[in-house]
Amino acid sequence: MAKMWAGRFSKEADSKLDSFNTSLPFDCRMYKEDIQGSLAHSEMLAKQGIISNEDKEAIHKGLKDILQDIEAGKIRFSDGYEDIHMFIEETLTNRIGDAGKRLHTARSRNDQVATDMRLYVKKEIKEIEDLLLQFLKTLTKNAKQYVDTILPGYTHLQRAQPITLGQWMMAYANMLKRDYVRLENTYDLMNECPLGSGALATTTYPIDRFMTSSSLGFKQPMENSLDGVSDRDYCIELCSDLSILMMHLSRLSEEVISWCSLEFHFLELDDAYSTGSSIMPQKKNPDICELIRGKSGRVYGSLMTLLTMLKGLPLAYNKDMQEDKEAVFDCIDTVKQCLEIINPMFDTLTVCKENMAKAALHGYINATDCADYLVKKGLPFRDAYHVIGTLVGYCSKQNKSLNDCTLAEFKQFHPLFESDVYKALDLKTCVQQRNVLGGPSSQEVQRQIQVIECFIKGCEVRE
Ligand code: ARG
Repeated sequence: MAKMWAGRFSKEADSKLDSFNTSLPFDCRMYKEDIQGSLAHSEMLAKQGIISNEDKEAIHKGLKDILQDIEAGKIRFSDGYEDIHMFIEETLTNRIGDAGKRLHTARSRNDQVATDMRLYVKKEIKEIEDLLLQFLKTLTKNAKQYVDTILPGYTHLQRAQPITLGQWMMAYANMLKRDYVRLENTYDLMNECPLGSGALATTTYPIDRFMTSSSLGFKQPMENSLDGVSDRDYCIELCSDLSILMMHLSRLSEEVISWCSLEFHFLELDDAYSTGSSIMPQKKNPDICELIRGKSGRVYGSLMTLLTMLKGLPLAYNKDMQEDKEAVFDCIDTVKQCLEIINPMFDTLTVCKENMAKAALHGYINATDCADYLVKKGLPFRDAYHVIGTLVGYCSKQNKSLNDCTLAEFKQFHPLFESDVYKALDLKTCVQQRNVLGGPSSQEVQRQIQVIECFIKGCEVRE
């Protein structure tokens, strides 16, 4: 096929150049945004008297027909086009003639691609936010059921202090809430329209950038055309937001993987979300969680691709920027896939409360409470800490827990011990007394749940 710019050259392009250069195989997913941008641009051209109304009508009808035909599968994105922009423009011109050739007046593919990509990213951010809200709902719904479920909390993967499963779930809910806010911030900052920046230096036609900006749903036009065509900060921000989000999903996955092992046995996966082994008939594997943990790597990789691709680019547009697409698209696709599967996987987990309770009985996770007991009786904390340290040493030699000691044994370690120590060491007491803001007590976790529920409602109202 003859190139649109063939006039300038005296030779055909090498076929290897075509396949190396083309972005159509991946940017074809922006066909809707490209058509949307062209509709707004041509509407503005007509209003400003730059093209005639008849041409505009023909362009609009042609573009809408192309959109329909793409969606009905009647048009295939065939080889031989450099990108989605050329594909749509040339298809239009083949169909409607000269009017199609007027569409690109006062525009460049540089501001066109910048606009399409922003429209696409904006739409996808909203979809990811929606998936995040759904997962947040699952987390809060489940947390409500487990505000009283005690398990050991860990530091260094060593049993540390008692927590509740509800609190653990709400910890992840808070991470995902921040992920949502981060995406929303990215959206706000990128919500400006580059259309009208032209190739780099705007245009001599009397275009109305405010008109196209607002008809495409942007807050305002971008301030500077050089920046307009070369800013990809929002792609980096998006991939960074999504990297952090994947890191959260990966940590959650890691815990689910460990907790589903026989060693922990705190959780069991639903059969619908587990996989088997080709050789070991007994196996029930957490492949979903492992894949999520693994896929965080490719999302981080995309972030690095973008940072590296952009760091040496002079102003304004450079073809390197075409590389933004596969990185951004892959991040978006991966995160959506992960959120779509982690939600039902998590929602159908069986919680083995008894195993959690059993694990909480060992490991001296009420040792801090035992020290605090003596503090409340008047001993300075450091002294109490020392007393309980020796008591734990004694118990571990005897292979028993603190609660198994007789009052006489307690008194050997400090005379301040009374019979009320057993109540203080009860794990329920230990958890319920941690009623401080942020803590694991059922009352406090219920409050945390309410905060997230308010957040979810607020987001839904805004949408
Ligand atoms: N496919 C290109 C991209 O994704 C579109 C812009 C091309 N502009 C140009 N001057 N070659 O970046």
